Amino acid sequence: MDVESLKQEAGIAACAYIKDGMNVGLGTGSTVKYTILELGRRIEKEGLQIVGVPTSLATEKLAISVGIPLVELDSLDHLDVVVDGTDEFDPDFNLIKGGGAALLREKIVAQASTQMVVVADARKQVERLGAFPLPIEVTCFSWQTTQRSIEAVLGCSTARRMNGEEPVLTDNGNFIVDARTGPTIQNPAETERELLAIAGVVQVGLFIGMCNVVILAKDDGVEVLSKEE
Ligand code: A5P
Repeated sequence: MDVESLKQEAGIAACAYIKDGMNVGLGTGSTVKYTILELGRRIEKEGLQIVGVPTSLATEKLAISVGIPLVELDSLDHLDVVVDGTDEFDPDFNLIKGGGAALLREKIVAQASTQMVVVADARKQVERLGAFPLPIEVTCFSWQTTQRSIEAVLGCSTARRMNGEEPVLTDNGNFIVDARTGPTIQNPAETERELLAIAGVVQVGLFIGMCNVVILAKDDGVEVLSKEE
């Protein structure tokens, strides 16, 4: 099966976790896009009643275009579930996210959610995190000083993310520095702690202990992996 069809399968399967009356975090990326499209369909055709909180401006635009009612996270006391994509997940359901530069809002929304359902195709499953360059959101102010500190902590090279000639700016007006650690992140919690201790680091694309369910689309079908509590 081609990757796009796998993403679609995983994205649609996640809708099983979304019921009438729920407050739903809407992730960002090319996999969860299919969840959002399907939710829009169910709202229109089946009268599904939910409110959504988008994790990026791109998701906000998509959700509005398919008729999902949106609210500010601040107006809710909780989210029932967030559905989001991932760049990698390990056997403990720790994640690397931020390939789409939305990690800060994604993490705020995930932290506010009772449950985090991740949609992924088989390429995202790894034994150890880090083959995918770790996205780190940093302030524009003195970003090179921050970059040097990140390199000192991780002992690897990093690059500010570019879009052609221009640096990528996040929805929050910050830069992204991608760290090429290789698949060596043995203790993600410690790595996250060390990076967050650098003043110019706004957020790190490591999501630890947040995801409970991975909906994994493989050539032989969709597998639902649940974290044992
Ligand atoms: C956005 O910043 C990311 O965290 C995405 O959720 C992640 O990159 C997965 O995206 P895809 O589903 O497009 O691979």
